[in-house]
Amino acid sequence: MTTPSQQPSKTPEPGARPAEQTYAAASEDVDVKAISPVADEEPKGESQLSDPFGPEVEAEAKELVARYPQARSALLPMLHLVQSVQGYVSQEGIAFCARQLDLTEAEVSAVATFYTMYKRKPCGQHLVSVCTNTMCAMLGGDEIYRTLSEHLGEDGKPLGHEETAGEPGEPGSITLEHAECLAACDFGPVVQVNYEYFDNQTPDKAVELVDALRRGEKPQPTRGAPLTDFRSVERQLAGFFPEEEDVFRSDVDGPSQAVETLRGAQLAADRGWTAPMMPDDAPLPEVEAK
Ligand code: FES
Repeated sequence: MTTPSQQPSKTPEPGARPAEQTYAAASEDVDVKAISPVADEEPKGESQLSDPFGPEVEAEAKELVARYPQARSALLPMLHLVQSVQGYVSQEGIAFCARQLDLTEAEVSAVATFYTMYKRKPCGQHLVSVCTNTMCAMLGGDEIYRTLSEHLGEDGKPLGHEETAGEPGEPGSITLEHAECLAACDFGPVVQVNYEYFDNQTPDKAVELVDALRRGEKPQPTRGAPLTDFRSVERQLAGFFPEEEDVFRSDVDGPSQAVETLRGAQLAADRGWTAPMMPDDAPLPEVEAK
């Protein structure tokens, strides 16, 4: 007897089809609509048609371009700038980058969909990333992720990867994601909020953390800069910082190392190990201007 999964597959008819069918092979964890290059939206009203990237953002985009020998090199920071405006990389954001950098929208999309830091759906006020990579998973990261997704879910439905509890962008809204190694295995299991570290987490501590965020509090990260919100951090990642030195220091600076981090350097110093020196006349690779 033939089971449904053994039925011979039908040859698909040629032509455009909805994202759900085009991406039928994607796993349940993939939001096929969010990654679809095909627009799946209602026709826009007048207010939606207004360009969110006005002259001020355009001036900042030009400032980014001026920082590089080739305009296209500004694409990564420019995508962060776009996220600081809208909380994600929308189709309008992709078109904006393409215009500024003389690229095609396909080229910008290819980059925006490759890196997980670029979000294709509007993000919450805070982005909570739980490391579920090998080291953290073994130390309890999977349990933390499961606990948070149940705690932030509604009506018994756990919150999924890259889904938001609350209205995206509104105060107290939280987007949850599981993340690959966050480069802090010596403090595992780790959670990041807007890319700031909360080390040595437990499920209970992580629940306390998200509850505080939902109440509008900004708990102090274990290391690094004070907590702000997703869009403000995206502005920093785009490369825009306060000009006054003391404001800059208090906004983005903070102790980022701990005894564990320095253990290797300390061992090397104790034993007199050094790395080979870079020769003064080491040739630099030729860069050909395009
Ligand atoms: S495995 Fe979690 S920080 Fe490396």
